[in-house]
Amino acid sequence: GLAIGSAVAGGGHHDRMDYPDPFPNDTRYRETLAEQFSSVSPENQTKWAYVHPARDEYNFGPADDIVEFARENRQMVRGNALLWHSQNPSWLEDGNFTPAELREILKDHIQTVVGHYKGKVDHWDVANEVFDDEANLRFQENIWLRELGMGVIADAFRWAHEADPRATLFINDFNTEGKNAKSDAYYELVRTLLEDDVPVHGFGVQGHLSIEYGFPGDMRENLQRFADLGLEVAVTEMDVRMVLDDSGEPTEAQLEQQAEYYRMALEACMAVESCTSFTVWSFTDKYSWVPVVFEGEGAATLMSETFTRRPAFGELRAAL
Ligand code: XIL
Repeated sequence: GLAIGSAVAGGGHHDRMDYPDPFPNDTRYRETLAEQFSSVSPENQTKWAYVHPARDEYNFGPADDIVEFARENRQMVRGNALLWHSQNPSWLEDGNFTPAELREILKDHIQTVVGHYKGKVDHWDVANEVFDDEANLRFQENIWLRELGMGVIADAFRWAHEADPRATLFINDFNTEGKNAKSDAYYELVRTLLEDDVPVHGFGVQGHLSIEYGFPGDMRENLQRFADLGLEVAVTEMDVRMVLDDSGEPTEAQLEQQAEYYRMALEACMAVESCTSFTVWSFTDKYSWVPVVFEGEGAATLMSETFTRRPAFGELRAAL
């Protein structure tokens, strides 16, 4: 019953908008994605900047292609993200809208996008990264929190639920795999939302880990406490990066350690009954965001640029 997913590359990295096409036209990539995974997550194609390029314009083509691919291959789909501080279009961020207009814009966006994918996108990351690493709500960076206050989180879930009552609605973030101040803040927020009958159904931990920082040893306990609130839990964007030496290649020891991290995360998920999906944030370095965003780091995925399987791939297969 556990879905094993991957991000589907495309839509452009921060400073690498030169991708050949929004869903790489790469036979090897597509075949592996179809063969090895039972869930897919558009990596960028359902984000505001891509799907909603102008106030009165929606661009569903790139995400539609992925959803169609998933239908053909009987895969589930996770959508990310409806309320986020990042990858928003400049028409929105620089638009000087009034709070009333912003509410209208957000409601329209959520209902249009979730409505378009009704019955096709199974999980939505409705609220993404609303807390920073100090466990404070991002009242500065996040336009919605800044202009509309924290009540907008509940509104976003309600609007999404109206648009597709059967979609599973998640709140999602990184550095929340183990118990810490940030995951504690989520725990309190989710408890309050549930008390208010807000349709929040899942807690997603992204799982962007690094072998430099250690594995969050209490991951299972952390997932379990959210499960005990009645939520589904999921690992939504797993990758395990490392600092590469001058050769640019990982050492065997690094890859062994990485394999262990992947396995421990999967085992934490499998030990929690309502952990329903485990997604990696790309399965090959060929399309990994890591080297683009984390300078000097890489080799974070299950396969090299040329699709050579790393020890982590075998560890996951063995653990399943
Ligand atoms: C990343 C993508 O992988 C990159 O291609 C893009 O340039 C930036 O966003 N948290 C999330 C994901 O929820 O949407 C992010 O994806 C990674 C961090």
